[in-house]
Amino acid sequence: MNGQRAAIILAAGKSKRMRSAMPKVLHRVAGVPILGHIINAVRQAGVARIVVVTSPDGQAVRDYAVACGAQTAIQEHQEGTGHAAKCAGVALADFDGAAVVTYGDMPLVTPETFEKSFAAHEKSGMALVAFQSQSHAYGRVIVGADGMVDRIVEFTDSNEGERLVTLCNAGILAADAKSFFRWAALLKNDNAQNEYYLTDIPTVAKAERVACAVVNADEEDVMGVNSRSELAAAEAAMQRRLRARALEAGVGMIAPETVFLHEDTVLEADCQIGPYVVFGPGVVVRSGAEIRSFSHLEGAEVEKGAIVGPFARLRPGAKIEENAHIGNFVEVKNARVEKGAKANHLAYIGDARVGAGANIGAGTITCNYDGFDKHFTDIGAGAFIGSNTALVAPVKIGDGAITGAGSTITKDVAADALAVERAEQRQLGGWAEKFRSRKKAEKAKRGSK
Ligand code: UD1
Ligand code: CA
Repeated sequence: MNGQRAAIILAAGKSKRMRSAMPKVLHRVAGVPILGHIINAVRQAGVARIVVVTSPDGQAVRDYAVACGAQTAIQEHQEGTGHAAKCAGVALADFDGAAVVTYGDMPLVTPETFEKSFAAHEKSGMALVAFQSQSHAYGRVIVGADGMVDRIVEFTDSNEGERLVTLCNAGILAADAKSFFRWAALLKNDNAQNEYYLTDIPTVAKAERVACAVVNADEEDVMGVNSRSELAAAEAAMQRRLRARALEAGVGMIAPETVFLHEDTVLEADCQIGPYVVFGPGVVVRSGAEIRSFSHLEGAEVEKGAIVGPFARLRPGAKIEENAHIGNFVEVKNARVEKGAKANHLAYIGDARVGAGANIGAGTITCNYDGFDKHFTDIGAGAFIGSNTALVAPVKIGDGAITGAGSTITKDVAADALAVERAEQRQLGGWAEKFRSRKKAEKAKRGSK
């Protein structure tokens, strides 16, 4: 086993380019804050101690970091990435091991990149992740004759020759923690932005004869999100990854490029997902289930043989059991639709149980909310709910019972009974014909004037 590992995640920047009141690292990719993706990645690379460096007004970032089990530090003034990393020193004062410093704005970074960084640090003394790019957004890594990092130059500080270099700094650096904080204290801010740059660390370390190795990564994996358009690009890349993973695992998707997945979406082999389906958090679709086009699911489980959609909405707590059908414009929330039950058109099923084999007619509404509290509707196995029935909860429909179309059901219905709540139908023979004749005559009289 490698020694102890820590991570310092920098998230105190002003994120001006996002033009958002929300800190950049809390913007979401595949439904998870960017910071969450990085925390997951470093954890999977064996990091036990995580310190997230935040700005004084970054309370929301600190709350999220703590919820993820990380420690936090505050950078009082935004004096650059090197200064930010130094601010983690107090939180890691008792730490003796390897630390990776990483920027908080890289949602696509993988555990392997951190693994490789730690390994290269153990071998060479220090390691820096770099990638090939022409983008002006990144600092250039100048490599010496020995193949080690000579220096890193920010694009704004670079000369013509340095601008030709396409090896870019990703913003991930692995080093011995105690040495790192010693070097960080020696950084100077004599550069274009008058900031203490993290990127000057390899130069400082060289004075102690510690060399910095280069670890290669893909541009996509380490892309930094600085603006809304970069956030959208990161989302697109993440979606491509998640879709590829699902297809590889045996999920059927004829138009994967139109399906939007959440980071935690569980799609079992041999489930079928139609075009334009959107997944929010917490969805499980079992083998043999089918989700048809234009459906939106969150916090739901769909079992084998069940069919959902097209145009269905499953909200948190929806459980669609084997062979049940949820059709177009049907919304299900906090409800169990048991085996073989069907709600095929235009219905709202909230805070309910729909028993096995029951049939829910078009236009059925569970009236679950009285403006203050939510109430439960219990529909028995094999019940038949007529079209346009309003079920005013709390209410219980017995097994095998039938409700007449258009009924407003406010009282429990016994098993196998018929409940019908509507006025008796009247019929007036010939009335329609007489009505038309009178109207035509009236109109003719007006026209002749
Ligand atoms: C930085 C690097 C650049 C690299 C690029 C990769 C420096 C000087 N430059 O540039 O070489 O190619 O990232 O994406 O390091 N932060 C703080 N406190 C500060 C300033 C920044 O915590 O005072 C944090 C930010 O929240 C962010 C990260 O550090 O998560 C990087 O800052 P950012 O402003 O995005 O740096 P870049 O200009 O992109
Ligand atoms: Ca950046």
